[in-house]
Amino acid sequence: MITIAVPAEADKSEHRVALSPETAKKFVALGARVRVQAGAGAGSQFSDTEFKEAGASVAKSAAETLKGADIVLTVRRPSAASLKGVAKGAILACILEPFSDKASLSTLAKTGLTVFSMEFMPRITRAQSMDVLSSQANLAGYKAVIDAAAGFGRAFPMMMTAAGTVPATRVFIMGVGVAGLQAIATAKRLGAIVTATDVRPSTKEQVESLAAKFVAVEDEEFKEAETSAGYAKEMSAAYKKKQAKLVSEHVQGQDIIITTALIPGRPAPELISKAMVESMKPGSVIVDLAAERGGNCAVTKPDVTVEHKGVKVMGATNLAGELAGNASSLYARNLQAFIALMFDKEKKGALAIDWDDDVIKGTLVAKDGKLVHAMLTGKGGKK
Ligand code: NAI
Repeated sequence: MITIAVPAEADKSEHRVALSPETAKKFVALGARVRVQAGAGAGSQFSDTEFKEAGASVAKSAAETLKGADIVLTVRRPSAASLKGVAKGAILACILEPFSDKASLSTLAKTGLTVFSMEFMPRITRAQSMDVLSSQANLAGYKAVIDAAAGFGRAFPMMMTAAGTVPATRVFIMGVGVAGLQAIATAKRLGAIVTATDVRPSTKEQVESLAAKFVAVEDEEFKEAETSAGYAKEMSAAYKKKQAKLVSEHVQGQDIIITTALIPGRPAPELISKAMVESMKPGSVIVDLAAERGGNCAVTKPDVTVEHKGVKVMGATNLAGELAGNASSLYARNLQAFIALMFDKEKKGALAIDWDDDVIKGTLVAKDGKLVHAMLTGKGGKK
């Protein structure tokens, strides 16, 4: 019988958990034994009792949770030391952050565990239910607008009152991926005047379908600025210059900017210079969702709010984690859909992994003591 173990997160500031009572039940239905560490779900409002009712057992310590585990599920990358008791060949699936702290990643690979990075999930229709970047970015996009609204000393919607008119807040979203689209929708619901920009041409229609206005230099390069995987490409210096000019003129009139621009495997592009921040009215707010990867704004500092010449620049790196209840439910479902793929269709409770499946191959980072993913070994091209 396969044992799935879910220890509590080592980082106490991480409130998400890799299992929900719902997914525990589904794993049990697949014939697995599920063990979760006591209190692991507390930050997401999942009690030990709910896990027990779902068919999981609750273990007191991390060591006890991990004993005999065939599959370990976590939110963040665990240290190799914390997995000492886990047998070689057991599976670990988590939000690995495969491009950060390479030394600890190679130590983890050397444990002989079979490690999967959920961020490498291929963006194919079949894998949508397993896409953690989408499930978490959607919540982060929502929370970014809520935080911006809370940090802004004015109301979002236009209000016509007997005492005069309150003008609508102007919100500019930079980067219209999953987080950006949710940020647009949220800001619209709150009554703001919303504009957005991206380098991928397909986003123009998406922005307009949410009744926001698209702002970008739409030249020949822009028309080709999307990889076959649906991601942004690094733009030429000439394009960046033209786009920066257009954006810097636009930024001056904005009250709130939410930046979400990322390019897989590269530092976040700088879209807002110090001078652009200084061109904004005092009291304006910038929320930089790219803070963890260096930030889209020149003055961003990860995990703090910087006040620069009267403009608040928020650099929270785990906004999805601040909505831990939702984030854990969705993340746990992503993991459950992924792990379910590995179960034998004929023999209940056994694994039968198809190593040639694009979903397995695409997410596999380490096996038999070595890093194996092309994006990490340097043997494959960039997506
Ligand atoms: P992301 O988090 O990698 O990047 C966020 C956004 O920033 C992207 O829209 C990107 O084009 C934009 N960006 C990058 N550099 C920029 C720059 N210099 N200026 C302005 N914007 C810039 O992207 P995310 O949210 O992960 O998704 C990208 C797209 O992938 C989605 O919109 C969608 O088309 C596709 N997708 C497909 C899925 C599937 O089929 N399973 C699931 C999720 C997304």
